[in-house]
Amino acid sequence: MSQVFRVTGQELGKWRSLAIRSTQGQDISPREVDWLLQEITNLTALALRLESFRDQAEIVLKISLEDLEQRWQRRLKDRSPLQYLAGSTPWRNLNLQVAPGVLIPRPETEILIDLPIAANQDNSELATGNWVDLGIGSGAISIALADTFPEITIHGVDQSSEALAIAQVNISKYNYARRIHLHQGSWWSPLEFLQGKVQGMISNPPYIPTAMIAHLQPEVTNHEPHLALDGGEDGLDDLRHLVNTAPYYLESGGIWLVETMAGQPEAVMRLLGEQGSYKDICTFPDFAGIPRFVQATKI
Ligand SMILES: C[S@@+](CC[C@H](N)C(=O)[O-])C[C@H]1O[C@@H](n2cnc3c(N)ncnc32)[C@H](O)[C@@H]1O
Repeated sequence: MSQVFRVTGQELGKWRSLAIRSTQGQDISPREVDWLLQEITNLTALALRLESFRDQAEIVLKISLEDLEQRWQRRLKDRSPLQYLAGSTPWRNLNLQVAPGVLIPRPETEILIDLPIAANQDNSELATGNWVDLGIGSGAISIALADTFPEITIHGVDQSSEALAIAQVNISKYNYARRIHLHQGSWWSPLEFLQGKVQGMISNPPYIPTAMIAHLQPEVTNHEPHLALDGGEDGLDDLRHLVNTAPYYLESGGIWLVETMAGQPEAVMRLLGEQGSYKDICTFPDFAGIPRFVQATKI
């Protein structure tokens, strides 16, 4: 069992009040304090907000109060993302390990799971066979797919060994090591053996134009891996590659599905049309109603 630390409700309450006060005048929400505390204790959001925990004689923490304070200082001074400081993040119904070598999975990426559920209603063969998650990162998409479609096998690829190590931890945590296979390499290159045998390709590839990366929030620019972000001069390098290579791997009727940046779907749809191997090319919006996802079917 991993080590645990104990504090009184009074001690934790004092730390919480000071941490909330320290966000004043910073570009950091005071709500982040409770988010972090929920990740490292068993306290609920309500218990934290009402401060009902202050009367507890003992609260168990996953890290010491000193370590918690050091991590909070890194949030304030270095703008380290909260998820890296907590070492985990909620995503869909999962709680995934994350660390600086891997992209923090974003809420809108959850839509990449909802779209295959809808596609499966028209073509039930999609719920069987081989799926690929290109650029697997933390494993979020693969694990949610495995949860949703109990009969599929998933092949997750990443170039980053740090990302693959974290994906491995998350896959083991959810007991999917037998259904999610990991491969290191560039996009389809480790998957030659799957040519013509893939029912679905899902990817959230790097899509940010190189020049924009320096101007993102400091949490992203200074802390998240640029390999996960940088899509080349126009942001479309990897999307273009996936359009051109997937037809060798997808079965007829197989699904091609990607996340893109706002403003990119039209260009991606044009590339798919020009490639000539796809039909039913369409785009879907994110939670804000902005077109962000592109789906097509292999002819
Ligand atoms: C935007 S992140 C997506 C991570 C994860 N799928 C998610 O949605 O949270 C892109 C991922 O692609 C990986 N990647 C970048 N270039 C790659 C390449 N040439 N081949 C395979 N993976 C690559 C990065 O390491 C990163 O994990």
